[in-house]
Amino acid sequence: MAQDKVVIFDTTLRDGEQSAGAGLTVEEKLRIARQLDRLGVDVIEAGFAASSPGDFDAVRTIAREIRRPVICSLARAVPGDIDRAWEALKDAARPRIHTFLSSSEVHLLHQMRKDRETIMNMAVEAVKRARGYCADVEFSPMDATRTEPAYLYAMIQAVIEAGATTVNIPDTVGYTTPAEFRELIRGLFAKVPNIKKAVVSVHCHNDLGLSVANSLAAIEGGARQIEGCINGLGERAGNASLEEVIMGIETRRDHFKIGTSINTREIVPTSRLVSSIFGFPIQYNKAIVGQNAFRHSSGIHQDAYLKERTTFEIMEPERVGWRGDAIVLGKLSGRAGLRAKLKEQGYLLSEEELDRTFAAFKRLADEKKEVTGLDLVSLMEEQHRAADVTFAYTVDKVHVVCGNQQKPTATVRLVDSRGTATERTAEGTGPVDAVCKAIDGIAKLPVTLTEFAVNSVTEGIDALGEVTIRIEREGRVYAGRGSSTDIVVASARAYVNAINRMLMIVEQDEIATQRRAATAR
Ligand code: KIV
Ligand code: ZN
Repeated sequence: MAQDKVVIFDTTLRDGEQSAGAGLTVEEKLRIARQLDRLGVDVIEAGFAASSPGDFDAVRTIAREIRRPVICSLARAVPGDIDRAWEALKDAARPRIHTFLSSSEVHLLHQMRKDRETIMNMAVEAVKRARGYCADVEFSPMDATRTEPAYLYAMIQAVIEAGATTVNIPDTVGYTTPAEFRELIRGLFAKVPNIKKAVVSVHCHNDLGLSVANSLAAIEGGARQIEGCINGLGERAGNASLEEVIMGIETRRDHFKIGTSINTREIVPTSRLVSSIFGFPIQYNKAIVGQNAFRHSSGIHQDAYLKERTTFEIMEPERVGWRGDAIVLGKLSGRAGLRAKLKEQGYLLSEEELDRTFAAFKRLADEKKEVTGLDLVSLMEEQHRAADVTFAYTVDKVHVVCGNQQKPTATVRLVDSRGTATERTAEGTGPVDAVCKAIDGIAKLPVTLTEFAVNSVTEGIDALGEVTIRIEREGRVYAGRGSSTDIVVASARAYVNAINRMLMIVEQDEIATQRRAATAR
């Protein structure tokens, strides 16, 4: 199939959500899907509809609202999964069913416990069933890079004959190398007679840190769809980082002789949103989106850069969405300045939202001399967190007494959704522990805190601190985030956000399960 663009397939909401310690509400997935739409991705894999009632609801909600890109659901190569995927996708403007089945000897022997012929038939039947519902069907032979090439090619030929319109070659365990993978993809064009009837896709994991290199090598081999996740999220070490793949293609169009349809200026906002909602901070030196990615620190580099930018910069930061600091805000700034700065960061607010944000901004400006673009992003996300989970708790007061001569003690007051305020005091091993114990005394939900991390949003002693907390309950992990110039207050917000998200995810799962039971009756 001749193509002038590489299809960008985002699986942040499916493979990305398989990252250990992730878990999103339906509203959070929808916010990310809207941003992926602004970014211009061609396909959004919105989830795995058959895996849980909550995932089903998320796929269906996204399929109903997001109309431009293809919306896709994953499905194992079994009838029940394919039916369920279609049920979730049927209202989409452009639906796709993505069905998969293991193909490597090690998976057939130990995971599937089936022979090659049975697996081949299952693959063909799954694609035929999916095509019965939908004209756009993708098939993935899982663990393709450890599959005997002759069997892999025969399977690809058979599924295309059965109606697959995209054939995806996953490097499921991140095992291949760029040169080897390029040859495997070239082999498809040489050995599979009907290959031109389908789009060839790749899906690379990052176990050896090669996922982006392997994806780009696959383009050289003829692949025309790349799957990946924003910020490289995904199972284990993650998937190919989509922003790196996109900028690799775009920056080296001279080499790849092909481009994408991505609005690259939305990359940084998308990365920040995904980081904030998933609760996974971005490493400082991460390519494209890390906060050091466009900083020049050594004297020799700075000198040359100031003479001519291209001496040490291969991309313009603005091109990937880094926005300048033309306007600096402080406590004397007005609404017009705030509106302009928010616009620079990609936020367009209604008058009512601006009123609310202006009040929060004034409080922040009282604590901080200069309010930067990054501070405003953090402030906006804090507002979203508060609004997203209106049914549970908000932090009203935090008071701690601590030091090296006394037992840390915290008093916390939370307000619940009915407006009832409850206050508790508790002691702990440190101020944060005391705060969490006081919150436990109010929420009365047995949870275990498994992770606590603090990051500063900008530099300086008055910087905003962003706290990420993970809690565990009944084997599931929930993340929470909070920000404040006071890290103890940020910790209280993050802990309450984790509890709120847990309550919301559990409630959404229960509602979806009841709805499913009611329709089955
Ligand atoms: O890694 C993998 O093989 C997958 C498939 C389901 C495409 O995620
Ligand atoms: Zn995967």
